[in-house]
Amino acid sequence: MPLNIAVPTNTTPNETRTPVSPSTVKALSQLGFNITVESGAGLDSQFSDDEFRDKGATIETDVAKLYNDADVLLKIDAPGRHPKTGQDELSMLPKGKTWISFLAPAQHPETLKRFNDHEMSAIALDAIPRISRAQKMDTLSSMANIAGYRAVIEAAHNFGRFFTGQITAAGKIPPAKVLIIGAGVAGLSAIGAAKSLGAIVRAFDTRAEVKEQVESMGGEFLTVEIEEDGAGTGGYAKQMSQAFIDAEMALFMEQAKEVDIIITTALIPGKPAPKLITEDMVKAMKPGSVIVDLASPNGGNCECTVKDQIHSVHNVKIIGYTNLAARSANLASTLLSNNILRLIEHLCSEKDGQLQIDTDDEITRSCTVVHQNNILWPPPPPKLSAAPKAAASQTAPAKEAALPIKITKTSAKAIIVYWLIAAAAMLALGKVAPPDFMGHFTVFVLAIFVGWQLIWNVSHALHTPLMSVTNAISGIVVVGSLLQVSGSGSSLVTGLAGLGILVATINITGGFFVTRRMLNMFRREGE
Ligand code: NAI
Repeated sequence: MPLNIAVPTNTTPNETRTPVSPSTVKALSQLGFNITVESGAGLDSQFSDDEFRDKGATIETDVAKLYNDADVLLKIDAPGRHPKTGQDELSMLPKGKTWISFLAPAQHPETLKRFNDHEMSAIALDAIPRISRAQKMDTLSSMANIAGYRAVIEAAHNFGRFFTGQITAAGKIPPAKVLIIGAGVAGLSAIGAAKSLGAIVRAFDTRAEVKEQVESMGGEFLTVEIEEDGAGTGGYAKQMSQAFIDAEMALFMEQAKEVDIIITTALIPGKPAPKLITEDMVKAMKPGSVIVDLASPNGGNCECTVKDQIHSVHNVKIIGYTNLAARSANLASTLLSNNILRLIEHLCSEKDGQLQIDTDDEITRSCTVVHQNNILWPPPPPKLSAAPKAAASQTAPAKEAALPIKITKTSAKAIIVYWLIAAAAMLALGKVAPPDFMGHFTVFVLAIFVGWQLIWNVSHALHTPLMSVTNAISGIVVVGSLLQVSGSGSSLVTGLAGLGILVATINITGGFFVTRRMLNMFRREGE
């Protein structure tokens, strides 16, 4: 029997997002699941019952039946009281079912215990690991991206001036200065949005690796004197020393006097948000300035933040909204439902309408927080860090670091032996082969060696210019092959020249095709 995925309305006030969209309902049905959506569950995200029905969902008006018939309960928020019945959601669900929603497992261990007591499996959408294989399921990044953008829009709405500078007949308007603290997903999105509105944008982060990302978005990356890298495991930050925090706070005090808007996103997963903006800093800001504290769900980066409110202190507005993504409900639901579809696809590799919870799989293990009468939170740390492995090269002696390949005593011996064998083979070949052949053959061998050495050592970032060089070389190959393809009288030469033309042409057209696709990634729709 295919599992029935039930989607009820949200239980948290102001939660407007929906975990399925009409198009993902269709895709989930194609995976073999039955989808039942509570009537009106998508209205806040502008998805109507009719749209869901058209894509194959059953629309249910009887709430008790919806819960009773559910095999999997798919929601945005953690268990609460259903707004229509007033009943606790878990008490409406039969035992042994699967729950999928945001659960904040680190902050709410009591919810996990309730699932366990109810003999349920629970999958936390906010516990998907930040590894490249799971990027398409990364709900937190999708939401942080929207929240960063939305933070700028909320700041602009509460700020009394333009973001861009202007010179008008009525006077000169200076551009707004925006400081972004924490250049992770939300921070980078905020930099892009503030920059596109014309503001001067500065950003600070403990992870030195984000400098280039900040600059590529048009922001200025601020630094402190102390050298300490904040890169931790799994693409997240690590906790910094007190000396570093003091240094960055001194920087923020200076910046507070200058900037008009501060957007804070500093976070270390599983820890309360570091308090980086003190009341004194708020006092130092110009009247009319705005702070958007994205870290407010984790306690806030600013001492004066009040959760879910806009609060004025010393003539500065501090925005403490905890669910900014829900203010862009349709977009958030569209992205979220795509992430959730990818997760369910991952759990249903047989496409048979069943979920396989394979706890040996890193992604499934991380987000499955309760299963088979066990609380599985916290998961083991991710095996791979998205951060570059800086430590090894930093501690290596300078001489060794300069060498692209480290030559040990054994490998040096092996290299000498290979060279001797290659020289002997060339001499032997020289004895029997015609001189013309030897000339071409020597160039061929050297080309392979030099080409291999060059291409192997080119960093990934330079692969595009490398591709244009290989295209130029392929062009020469085509010309050479065209000269040889006819008139040589030898069918072997004609065959090889024909093959040369074919392979080089594939390389050239492939190069153009890939370049075109890359350029399209940077083109806006309609351009
Ligand atoms: P992230 O982990 O990608 O980024 C956080 C950044 O803060 C990292 O780059 C980290 O290096 C930096 N950081 C950590 N400690 C720092 C310090 N002491 N000084 C400067 N930078 C520091 O996280 P993401 O996804 O960008 O989310 C950021 C915050 O926004 C989180 O607190 C998250 O809970 C919150 N959030 C809030 C929403 C809202 O509606 N209020 C919605 C979505 C996310």
